[in-house]
Amino acid sequence: MSHITETSLKKVTAPHIRARKGGAPIIALTAYDYPSARLVDEAGFDFILVGDSLAQTALGYDSTLPVTLEEMIAAARAVRRGVRRALVVGDMPFGSYQDGTSQAVQSAIRFVKDGGAEAVKIEGGSRRAHIVKAIVEAEVPVMGHIGLTPQSVLSMGGYRVQGKSMETARELIEDALALERAGAFAIVLEGIPSEISRIITDRVRVPTIGIGAGADCDGQILVFSDLIGLTFGHTAKFVRQYADVKSVISDALKRYADDVNARRFPADRESYHLPEGVVVEIEDEQSQSMPPLGPIN
Ligand code: KIV
Repeated sequence: MSHITETSLKKVTAPHIRARKGGAPIIALTAYDYPSARLVDEAGFDFILVGDSLAQTALGYDSTLPVTLEEMIAAARAVRRGVRRALVVGDMPFGSYQDGTSQAVQSAIRFVKDGGAEAVKIEGGSRRAHIVKAIVEAEVPVMGHIGLTPQSVLSMGGYRVQGKSMETARELIEDALALERAGAFAIVLEGIPSEISRIITDRVRVPTIGIGAGADCDGQILVFSDLIGLTFGHTAKFVRQYADVKSVISDALKRYADDVNARRFPADRESYHLPEGVVVEIEDEQSQSMPPLGPIN
């Protein structure tokens, strides 16, 4: 990855990501608004996921379940405005595709038309393959997502690493193959043993994008706020925090409040002024029109 120069501004598309199988690692991150998208795009990342993790990282919910398609589309629109090169993938929220293919296709099309997404991501393997196929047939590229799928938190009974037994590991491999057959252009592998990711990565012909899935995937994705250190509470074992933005912000807020309190802010250079002649004139005028001070009771 390198920083974008004018000559490397060729827009990334879903087929470009698909063609990266087995090549240089695909680098991805989530983003939820204009500034985060702009920074990620300018850093040269290959794709940006408008992740439903937005529910937790930006909206303060304790799971991804409550976020709506409307909220996701609004975020996607802001992200799209900040992106010139990266592929923008919209994450289909809980409740926007579980009702069947017709609902799923409509939601995906809304993500594209109203949100500016260039692909969508759907959680679930074999069980969702018919939905992936329907969306792909509607000309919207689909990224699959298997393993620890956060929208299944209720049925999984918590956030647990998946595929640790022979049987569940086999199921995951089947899930990946079903998504590939259904036409997914890439598959996110989340929270699974790295040995299973390696097998899946070897077996499928589309790129695998890991998050908590070891080093053998074709690409890696993290959540923006985890990477920059702007989270509250528990962070997963797989997160590597590259900055402590929360401390930087807290420190800035404290210094601003201290400056206001001590009347050090704003300084003269941060204030606007009247031209000299006008100052004298208006002060003069105002002092003449001031009522005389009455007795103080
Ligand atoms: O919503 C999200 O952040 C995701 C991950 C795969 C990064 O789905």
